[in-house]
Amino acid sequence: MPAYTLKINGQSRPANVSADTPLLWVLRDTLGLTGTKYGCGLGLCGACTVHLNGVPIRSCQTPVAAVDGAEVTTIEGLSPDGRHPLQQAWCEHDVPQCGYCQAGQIMTAAAFLKSNPAPTAEEIDGALANNLCRCGTYLRIRAAVQEAAVALQKGARP
Ligand code: FES
Ligand code: FES
Repeated sequence: MPAYTLKINGQSRPANVSADTPLLWVLRDTLGLTGTKYGCGLGLCGACTVHLNGVPIRSCQTPVAAVDGAEVTTIEGLSPDGRHPLQQAWCEHDVPQCGYCQAGQIMTAAAFLKSNPAPTAEEIDGALANNLCRCGTYLRIRAAVQEAAVALQKGARP
């Protein structure tokens, strides 16, 4: 019997790991969901951000035992076809440089737009302030979030 049966992107996924294994390693190493990235491992950079019951969390700091029975969404499950309005806006604005931080940026932005569908530029900057980008793509991130917000308000679907 697996130690845990996790709900990941709407599917039940078994994981035979110890209780203190960080969710990040279960996603990447056990389940092969490598879209979520390891940056600092200390809860400081946001590269590992996923949703837990719709709330953004740092999977490097979340033991697998803490997500038992909860709904986890990763970048692979943000939309059925990879065309969430944020993902489309990311492409249109050519946001990524190296790309390493971008899944975490998008996951944070997706949860933020649910709580604030019409944010100001300052609110976007504030919401994403703890997601670090070594490549300095912050201005393009802001523009893409603004565009996605407008698309979602006009009825675009994730
Ligand atoms: S890898 Fe989790 S916050 Fe940096
Ligand atoms: S695109 Fe390189 S770290 Fe953000």
